[in-house]
Amino acid sequence: MSRSERKIDHIRHAISHEREIHNHFDDIEIVHQSLARLNFEDIQMNIQVGELYLSSPLFVNAMTGGGGEETMAINRNLAIAAKETGIGMAVGSQMSALKNVEERKTYEIVREMNPEGVIFANVGSEATLDQAREAVRMLHADALQIHINTLQEMIMPEGDRDFSQRMHRIQDIIDHIDVPVIVKEVGYGMSKETADTLYQMGVRHLDVGGRGGTNFSRVENMRRERAYTSFNNWGIPTPVSVLETSISDDLHVFASGGVRNGLDGAKAMVLGAKGFGMAGSLLKILVNEGREALTEEIHHILHEFKIAMMLQNALHPKKLNGKPHVMLGYTKQWYDQRMN
Ligand code: FNR
Repeated sequence: MSRSERKIDHIRHAISHEREIHNHFDDIEIVHQSLARLNFEDIQMNIQVGELYLSSPLFVNAMTGGGGEETMAINRNLAIAAKETGIGMAVGSQMSALKNVEERKTYEIVREMNPEGVIFANVGSEATLDQAREAVRMLHADALQIHINTLQEMIMPEGDRDFSQRMHRIQDIIDHIDVPVIVKEVGYGMSKETADTLYQMGVRHLDVGGRGGTNFSRVENMRRERAYTSFNNWGIPTPVSVLETSISDDLHVFASGGVRNGLDGAKAMVLGAKGFGMAGSLLKILVNEGREALTEEIHHILHEFKIAMMLQNALHPKKLNGKPHVMLGYTKQWYDQRMN
């Protein structure tokens, strides 16, 4: 199998693997308020998250890297849908494009299609400062995501095993790069200990990349015979991870991982997130139904989010923070043991 065929295989598994039966956003209920008092037309969707300005709290999260016609077509279509709906977009890991110049086109197309849009670059935590700067330059990116995917690497036979330079490299990038840095997980969530350490290092933006949606343990396990299925349910569910990482007003948390719709996004914001990302479910619509369907779906998600704001009398997304809510089941048990 060639490298680009492997990528497509990966994408197929990522969008088709079985999701967990229970999504932990179902453990959160926003309490209905009957007396809506806003004019729907007046509701604002734009947000400021630390040093970042976004026209809505939803963004397309990092997916698909590497060369090949198909990944390029996916990035092109994601970029057009992001432009049509005015939302931000992160690209997939640029690590291979930093090593192979021919692969750059896969990423550059994102900026070409959306010259004015908010775009996040993406590198692994093994990236050097020079590589991080190059990744930002490649896209004229507005921010840089550094992804942390230890378990995924450990499950892949060809994955990285040496993380001894990770902290030093992240520190170097935070200290010297001139765009906001978002440290992100890829589906296992972040704990308050992780958030604390990153905060001490100077990180001010996190993407919890929690459990509940795309699950790289399951993706990797589908691709090989001797699988590590014991890790299929490893990780911190996204709403739980938002609660864990909301440790300071100036640590800005994005929720991602298993966000299914605008209401899940609103729940994440009630719990303390400043914005929310979606990856696998948007990719699935693009691959199965095409770009127009994706654009429609994004509009629909934003509309759902706005309805939740209307019901809570929240004129701006940030006003959702702390609105009356109830926590049930697993999430409540976790909360009681860890946050009280
Ligand atoms: C991803 N994700 C990802 N994240 C990252 O930081 N760099 C990357 O290169 C990739 N690649 C990637 C490929 C594919 C096909 C998918 C579906 C996802 C992870 C992604 O950004 C996100 O954190 C998780 O997918 C969880 O969100 P969802 O998919 O549950 O909405």
